[in-house]
Amino acid sequence: MAQNTSECATASSVARSEKVWPKIARPDLTFTPEIEAEMKPIYQRVKHVVTPMEWPHYAPLIKAINTLKKERNAVILAHNYMTPEIFHGVGDFKGDSLQLAREAANVDADVIVQAGVHFMAETSKLMSPDKTILIPDLEAGCSLAASVTAADVRALREAYPGVPIVTYVNTSAAVKAECDICCTSSNAVQIVESLNAPRVLLIPDEYLAKYVQTKTDVEIIAWKGRCEVHERFTAEELETLRGQDPGVKIIAHPECPPDVIKTADFTGSTAAMINWVKDNRPPKVILVTECSMSSNVAAETPDVEFIRPCNLCPHMKKISLEKILDSLIDMTFEVTIDPEVAQRARRSVERMVNLTN
Ligand code: 13P
Ligand code: SF4
Repeated sequence: MAQNTSECATASSVARSEKVWPKIARPDLTFTPEIEAEMKPIYQRVKHVVTPMEWPHYAPLIKAINTLKKERNAVILAHNYMTPEIFHGVGDFKGDSLQLAREAANVDADVIVQAGVHFMAETSKLMSPDKTILIPDLEAGCSLAASVTAADVRALREAYPGVPIVTYVNTSAAVKAECDICCTSSNAVQIVESLNAPRVLLIPDEYLAKYVQTKTDVEIIAWKGRCEVHERFTAEELETLRGQDPGVKIIAHPECPPDVIKTADFTGSTAAMINWVKDNRPPKVILVTECSMSSNVAAETPDVEFIRPCNLCPHMKKISLEKILDSLIDMTFEVTIDPEVAQRARRSVERMVNLTN
């Protein structure tokens, strides 16, 4: 049934872009007084979450990446789970899965470097087939994407004839190609209801499906995938933290278990969680999601205290400034998708984007 992550990551990728790109020499990464002065405005943005000891390592990398982006006519799409030096230092467009998919469709560049995981890079390729899409580490997978294969979806079609299949964006292009429409955590309820069907299969995240079931009368049939980061949070640990700090606000991602979502004051996609904090400015908050997101929001909201039961996504954390730099120098690793699969998968993603525009 389940695909392993690296299978999922390599099935549609080639190691190096087949186009001939101008050779670029490795930049000198010495932290000079000139680089310190030039990078100061960026340090001002991250000074609450990046220590002065770390900065001499990051600053030359950030400068080199931002210079190379211009030479390659490249942009970096950074997911909200990237570490702050990536998110605030080199990210050109930042957001949740839906926002990044939209940016990929509209961005004016030859190259997109996906600072995120493999399914996000595939989505960018679907939205922008003529651009070169690079992922800095091919092993940056996702436990949800690895939990379901195209053959699984075909078996579901046979088992549930006539029932529409909605796939979470956290899946491979091959799985998207077998489904009727895609969704993300920010629009799952809207997508399910748009189908005007009494029953809908919503795969592969069991917890997202359960969350959507609490918001709609449509009968939701779930798959058994889980996010390995969000499934580790427990209602008990959150209740303990609330007991220590009764005023704390708890904001959860819908990939969390149902009892965690029940304890939360708000549930939404990563972008919705960030907006909630920016709009409500609670004195203390727990973002029940991947840990780096708290740092990224904390950099911009120093008046808010973040309490962190910290779970890191091992796949997102494979992306580093060093690997982004290598990716732009060597033009690796290019993400490609079989054209026939891409055509069908694109239809699923475009249907979603058009519905939620
Ligand atoms: P968002 O679309 O909410 O950013 O979620 C993506 C993801 O992988 C969450 O774990
Ligand atoms: Fe996948 Fe979970 Fe990591 Fe998001 S946090 S990429 S759902 S494993």
